[in-house]
Amino acid sequence: MNPSDILALRNLKVSYDGNLALDLNSLTIAPGEVVGVVGANGAGKSTLVNAIVGWSRGTPRSTGEIFLADARVDGWSTHERIRVGLVLVPEGRLVFASMTVEENLSSAFSTVSSPGRRVYSREEIYDLFPRLGERRQHLGSQLSGGERQMLGIGRALMMGPRVLLLDEPSIGLAPKLVSQVLDTMRTLAASGLAILLVEQNVRAAMAVVDRLVLLERGRVVLQGPAAQVGDDPRIAQAYLGATSE
Ligand SMILES: Nc1ncnc2c1ncn2[C@@H]1O[C@H](COP(=O)(O)OP(=O)(O)OP(=O)(O)O)[C@@H](O)[C@H]1O
Ligand SMILES: [Mg+2]
Repeated sequence: MNPSDILALRNLKVSYDGNLALDLNSLTIAPGEVVGVVGANGAGKSTLVNAIVGWSRGTPRSTGEIFLADARVDGWSTHERIRVGLVLVPEGRLVFASMTVEENLSSAFSTVSSPGRRVYSREEIYDLFPRLGERRQHLGSQLSGGERQMLGIGRALMMGPRVLLLDEPSIGLAPKLVSQVLDTMRTLAASGLAILLVEQNVRAAMAVVDRLVLLERGRVVLQGPAAQVGDDPRIAQAYLGATSE
């Protein structure tokens, strides 16, 4: 793998009950880079980020190679992958409903900080998302969608990610909050974190990503700098539900 990359995927194939949901030749991310993954419903976006961390709702069959820096991790458990810094904020903002914000953050197990790897403290999460600081004694169940999303990201950061994967973090958020959450991605990337961002809000994503990858039926059909590929009609098509046979 190229020494400047932190994550590299090769020939990643994922199928459910024999149906191929993802067939990806190669994808790499460098530290400090934000890569956006877009595509229609069912294109394979969640399948991709879930496969990277070795997690799934069903029982997919996954083959191919996943490297985090020098380590080949595709045979590892999700737990082991988190420990080396491959951290996913899944679709649907998983937070503990009966725990307070403070307890939710404390339950994120942190690892030892090492060069190139930042483990955020609870206070740093409150600096990043002041709203969470104000709500620290509120229960998970009492939080708004946006606050839950911030909490999910906060928990992930306390695990010391080297690659942060986010599955549709802006879904259901008010426009102002969308840009706030996505702007945070740029702040995080500036400190060297690599970010893979699945986003249905292409316009908002384009404002923060370095590169955009378009998936169609599990395959990459377009990728490149956001400024170059952003206007490609295939991107608009994906979101209008049209097919490009
Ligand atoms: N647990 C599962 N069992 C069986 N099939 C699945 C499972 N999860 C996903 N699939 C199928 O795999 C394909 C890709 O699904 P995936 O969830 O990755 O799409 P997506 O791009 O994340 O879509 P969305 O934008 O709706 O979240 C779809 O055809 C879906 O029906
Ligand atoms: Mg999805």
